[in-house]
Amino acid sequence: MKSLRHFSVGLLTAATLSACSAPTPSSIRQTFRYPLVNGLVPARMTMVTAWDYPKNPLLDTRLDDSTLSREIKWGYRIFTNTPGEAPRFAPGKMSCNNCHLNGGQRERAMPLVGVAGMFPEYNRRAGRLISLGDRIVDCFLRSQNATGRLASDSAVANPADDPALPTPTSREVLAISAYLTWLSRGATMGTNPSSRGRNTLAPATLVPLNALNRSKGEQIYTDRCVSCHGADGQGVAVGDRKAGPLWGPDSWNDGAGAARIYTLAGIIRYAMPYLDPGSLSDEDSQHVAAYINSKPRPAYPFKSLDYQVDPLPSDAVYYPKRK
Ligand code: HEC
Ligand code: HEC
Repeated sequence: MKSLRHFSVGLLTAATLSACSAPTPSSIRQTFRYPLVNGLVPARMTMVTAWDYPKNPLLDTRLDDSTLSREIKWGYRIFTNTPGEAPRFAPGKMSCNNCHLNGGQRERAMPLVGVAGMFPEYNRRAGRLISLGDRIVDCFLRSQNATGRLASDSAVANPADDPALPTPTSREVLAISAYLTWLSRGATMGTNPSSRGRNTLAPATLVPLNALNRSKGEQIYTDRCVSCHGADGQGVAVGDRKAGPLWGPDSWNDGAGAARIYTLAGIIRYAMPYLDPGSLSDEDSQHVAAYINSKPRPAYPFKSLDYQVDPLPSDAVYYPKRK
């Protein structure tokens, strides 16, 4: 396993580097051995940089002992270890960081730097303006499958009605908001960061859903993904890092953005495989996404409330067809 040895060397180097590059009051950015792109880890870096956080609140000497500073730090810890730090809203094994790599600070892995100042924003799934808190709640409810905690006999009509589910005023949601808003300090309010929305495949490259081939996807998975994600899709430990489950009861639920084939393909296309990101073709990333999203995953119980204003997207394959 040549590649795995490579990881541990990378891990040691990363640890050594962060230890030597103590942040100074004028710069909270850590120094790495490669140039950052607008403050983000470049998209083409391999897994040796998985442990790098360009801005790490735990190392920022400017953060004092105020409540805000403490919550920013906790928000970062929740983001990077969601089941450990926010267990009541993360019954599965996903962390925010599994999809938003490097603490939300990696190019083309749905980075969250500069995003806070874009909310409230119209959201098609909700059919209304949503706040940053609403957006975080949505990733908890769906990507983290917080609804997996609902009692099996729960009959609430709306997630906001069940005290077991996160709301924009839940402590964990506020702490993540504090971390993400801190990541956006210095960005211009209302100016879309150029790094945003770059995990979307160009419309001209989309393969019609009925032409996507799951067996081809499975072959790509076996060739390019299985070493880190495992034959069972549950993730293999690499150093102290482990990918989140790609399917099954501990994965994201069927109401998540990643449960849409083209959305998932856009994540994979630019962020994976982690040893050579960007190397899959547009088409192959769609076959492998179709394979992953043909697998069972937890059911999001409030799907009928989604897309009531805007049309149901064609790639939301777990939703019942609508007239
Ligand atoms: C299974 C993968 C996955 C996980 C896990 C996940 N997210 Fe997301 N997240 C997404 C996708 C997909 C989007 C939508 C991206 C888009 O619309 O282009 C998104 C969008 C977001 C956005 C809005 C970004 C923007 O530019 O508007 C925020 C904020 C966010 N997630 C925060 C979180 C937080 C906090 C967690 C953990 C509680 C989390 N996410 C966990 C996949 C994930
Ligand atoms: C070298 C190891 C490696 C390879 C190869 C690899 N991945 Fe990953 N992948 C990871 C790690 C590690 C994470 C989580 C990143 C983190 O938490 O920092 C991840 C995250 C993901 C995620 C986010 C959701 C989740 O459950 O973690 C998806 C989707 C994904 N990989 C798909 C793929 C696909 C598809 C392939 C093959 C084309 C692939 N990966 C190849 C290591 C790898």
